[in-house]
Amino acid sequence: MEHLIHQRVKDMQITGIRRFSDVVARYQDVVSLTIGEPDFPTPDYIRQAGELAIRQNKTGYTHIAGLLELREAAGRFLEKQYGLTYDPVDEIIITNGATEAIAAAMRTILDEGAEVILPGPVYSGYEPVISLCGAVPVYIDTRDTDFLITADMIQAKITDKTRCIVLPYPSNPTGAVLDEQAVREIAELLSDKDIFVLSDEIYSELTYEKNHFSIGAIPGMRDKTITINGLSKSHAMTGWRIGFLCGPAYLAKEMLKVHQYNVICPSAVSQYAALAALQVDHGCTVAMKAAYRKRRDYVYDRLTAMGMEVVKPAGTFYMFPSIRKFQLSSQQFALQLLEQAKVAVVPGDAFSEMGEGYIRISCSYSMEKLETALNRMEPFVQRLTESVEQGGLQ
Ligand SMILES: Cc1ncc(COP(=O)(O)O)c(C=O)c1O
Repeated sequence: MEHLIHQRVKDMQITGIRRFSDVVARYQDVVSLTIGEPDFPTPDYIRQAGELAIRQNKTGYTHIAGLLELREAAGRFLEKQYGLTYDPVDEIIITNGATEAIAAAMRTILDEGAEVILPGPVYSGYEPVISLCGAVPVYIDTRDTDFLITADMIQAKITDKTRCIVLPYPSNPTGAVLDEQAVREIAELLSDKDIFVLSDEIYSELTYEKNHFSIGAIPGMRDKTITINGLSKSHAMTGWRIGFLCGPAYLAKEMLKVHQYNVICPSAVSQYAALAALQVDHGCTVAMKAAYRKRRDYVYDRLTAMGMEVVKPAGTFYMFPSIRKFQLSSQQFALQLLEQAKVAVVPGDAFSEMGEGYIRISCSYSMEKLETALNRMEPFVQRLTESVEQGGLQ
């Protein structure tokens, strides 16, 4: 019967992150810096709201677009933080994390042969959905531009089949953040074109030098932009599965159908917890961000002191150093680091072919753990550096 399974599904791969995690699980005493989620627990007041919802039997279906109060709170949050103006009644959908939002958006706008432009290296969650729709990913190589795309780079890839451009900033895995000027230039390029923008802003609260700037807030872009956000990263709520899918009403009404037939609605309990997260600002996001920033600075300083080449991330909790000079593939580097130093990182090729030559380090671990990992990594990197300098690897 296996031959009856959809070929596109068979062609899909489990993400490189999960595959490598399975390898890591076979080793003992490993310090793992592989996971891309906050190490903080969900703040107390949010968990308590979830518990209360259960005790009060708020456990049924909600409106398919999510609780209206939650949509209103999400709308206020997005307006206050980023100047986005989505109507909670018919322009905001509460989804099962940003993941479901990405899938619902893409399945609404992509059909056979449509081209989707995206920067590489990039988060591994887009390409499988694009391919499942029969659409085609078109990568822009950002390795020589500090992982940033420009309007000119996009223009060079636009064809009459281009349906959508994914703006995944702040970026997993690189931590790159697009500044306002770059976003405005992209908007200018797209102003007279019928091309959607899917702006995945799940890390928008985690920027360090400058605030995140949303393309959907630019007049003229609102009508062609799908904005995706959520609480997974900002509020340490990955397991609650709450995302926001926002778009102009004509588009949201179509995305709502895909969402309904896929999930009906996210868990009601999670929605009440999310409502508490947005209604009361206890400063938890700011506090967690301060911790990530300290860790970023520490890891960056240690890596550069080891002689590693790394672009300092302006956002997220990831670091994406180059390992090209060691003349190993990212898989080989990660495996040797695991075997010889008992430190786990994600091979860069998990983030498209353009991630080859890099590793992803997640800094969402305690300072103590980061310090142990880097102490173990240092002699390993030193050995590799010496081998390369002596003209060959043993
Ligand atoms: C860029 C990006 N978008 C979306 C997601 C998925 O987020 P969620 O857990 O809200 O589904 C992730 C998760 O790592 C991510 O890195």
